[in-house]
Amino acid sequence: MPSPTCNSSDDGHERRAAQVQAMFGSIAHRYDLLNSLMSLSMHHRWRAALIGALRLRPGMQVLDVCAGTGDVALAARRMEPGLRTVIGCDFCVDMLHIAGAKQASPACAVTWVAADALALPFRSSQFDACAVAFGIRNVVRPADGFAEMARVTRPGGVVACLEFGTPRGRVAAALVRMYENTALPALGGLLSRRAAYTYLPESIGRFSSREDVMAMMRAAGLDKVSVQDLALGAVNLFTGVRR
Ligand SMILES: C[S@@+](CC[C@H](N)C(=O)[O-])C[C@H]1O[C@@H](n2cnc3c(N)ncnc32)[C@H](O)[C@@H]1O
Repeated sequence: MPSPTCNSSDDGHERRAAQVQAMFGSIAHRYDLLNSLMSLSMHHRWRAALIGALRLRPGMQVLDVCAGTGDVALAARRMEPGLRTVIGCDFCVDMLHIAGAKQASPACAVTWVAADALALPFRSSQFDACAVAFGIRNVVRPADGFAEMARVTRPGGVVACLEFGTPRGRVAAALVRMYENTALPALGGLLSRRAAYTYLPESIGRFSSREDVMAMMRAAGLDKVSVQDLALGAVNLFTGVRR
């Protein structure tokens, strides 16, 4: 699977996208283990909530953008075996190789596609539902990422996004920040690449507020945009319906 080149309009964006691509490549082999340890295994529940928001039914075609090691796409297949097509795409082929190795049987097949979220190689309105989990924060132009997801989703289809956020309560926010800034890099340093896990709290801190994410989704062509807090608001589940 060849690596797609990053579709970013200026040099700074292109450089950052290439760094993100290389960073995920360097931690791909440890990604799942660290996910489970760092989220105290809560990530399964968060992904299940994301898939629930997609309102899956037999016959649907589903896209998982920034699919990484494939847990969302594979769980969607498990939760609704009658889906017509499930595609997981990501621009980091090392992450997709791990995803491909997890497929237990052809019956729960997911098609893995190496692609940039900013230039999805799919027709407009091709999918009934589109998901992104912990990916949009890493996309250098997240508003354009949402626009691409909206483009490939049919009118009336759901676009759902899981992303780290900031709890509304001051105490909870301080505790979560402390955990992200100390425990995550320490654990990452022990079992993987520390730099990738200092990038994690930095990228969360840099990312847009929940209000800005909702505004981006509306601007992308989504209606009925809403947000639900998970893990006290440390994780946000955004949903919108394609206009
Ligand atoms: C934190 S991982 C999330 C993976 C998976 N969705 C999950 O829930 O575990 C973020 C993923 O986004 C991918 N990514 C970041 N920017 C991307 C882009 N512009 N196009 C495609 N994939 C991108 C990375 O390669 C990485 O696999």
